[in-house]
Amino acid sequence: MSTPASKKTLCLRNTAAIGVIGSILAFTLYFEAPPPVCPPRFSQEVSSHPHEKPIVLVWFWPLNIKFDFKICSTHFHIDSCFLTDDRSLYSQAEGVIFYQKNIDWHLKRMPQDPRPAFQKWIWFHVESPTNTGRYPGLIHLFNLTLSYRRDADITVRNELTIRKTELKENIVLPKKDKLVCWIVSNKDPRTGTAVRERYYRELSKHVKIHMFGGAYGGHILSYDEYYSTIASCKFYLSFENSNHRDYITEKVNGPLVAGTVPIVLGPPRENYEQFLPADAFIHVNDFPDAKSMADFLLQMNDEAYARYFEWRKFFTATPHLLATKNEFIYPICLACDHISRDKDFHVVQDLYEWYFRKQN
Ligand SMILES: *[C@@H]1O[C@H](CO)[C@@H](O)[C@H](O)[C@H]1NC(C)=O
Repeated sequence: MSTPASKKTLCLRNTAAIGVIGSILAFTLYFEAPPPVCPPRFSQEVSSHPHEKPIVLVWFWPLNIKFDFKICSTHFHIDSCFLTDDRSLYSQAEGVIFYQKNIDWHLKRMPQDPRPAFQKWIWFHVESPTNTGRYPGLIHLFNLTLSYRRDADITVRNELTIRKTELKENIVLPKKDKLVCWIVSNKDPRTGTAVRERYYRELSKHVKIHMFGGAYGGHILSYDEYYSTIASCKFYLSFENSNHRDYITEKVNGPLVAGTVPIVLGPPRENYEQFLPADAFIHVNDFPDAKSMADFLLQMNDEAYARYFEWRKFFTATPHLLATKNEFIYPICLACDHISRDKDFHVVQDLYEWYFRKQN
């Protein structure tokens, strides 16, 4: 066990165990060359079981954006594995995470060494099928799926949390000075946006829609302005780019957190109701056309509006992290947690059969 490689592992693990004290130092050690031998000072602080945590290797930084693995423990209280991007730990890793968009068509960037029998490869993908490249060769390759889908092995979603006790105080909503808002940065029809574009065009003939984000020339918001802008609107267009089962994204979570009613366009209402109380949102299909919806919004009184927030007595919505680089952290933390608990054998048989066909 005293090969240089295992010393390095031990050293990195110690660094992770030191936690907050060493966070800047750990970061430096992490991304620059780690010392071949641990400084003695660190060894003394080693927890008594340096090998208790499984190694989870992030093979590609998603979209090549790096972030600090410490966020798993500081933000999500997940600290049950040792996350690393150090490919020299490949042969010891219990889990290896592959971000779908970083895999190339010829699989040349995948590990070339044989996979240890205990190791699980995790397919990490959070885009809808419309926006997924079908790389050949991914059938019978992975052990676990990490996706927004409810039938994935590791499901990553923004879910409502159940309150232990019912909220007794009155629900106070933020002040509203706009009726309908939409933050939208993408209108590329190749990503499936034609349906929502049509609905928006029709709806905007009957009610003013306050636009933000680059797609239709709206003001581009900073991250700090995101929740407060949504909060200032009574209704928010939570229009998904494409329509697929379970593809219900942070576009709905934002208004639920902010105290605004989401108007959803995506899979059918029944699918939303598997994740959210039926009276927490308005579905475009609740109305025969956009004009009827506009009339409904324009005529709604305060009492009817307040009913959309009854769910807050029983559930809470958790803010999602906003920066692109932070989008990937939570799924990776969940994979870490899963690997530390899951001791079972798995094979993902036909990835694409599952992802493209078994839906809607
Ligand atoms: C992982 O999947 C591969 C094939 O996809 C399989 O050969 C291997 O035994 C599986 N390993 C585990 C630990 O589930």
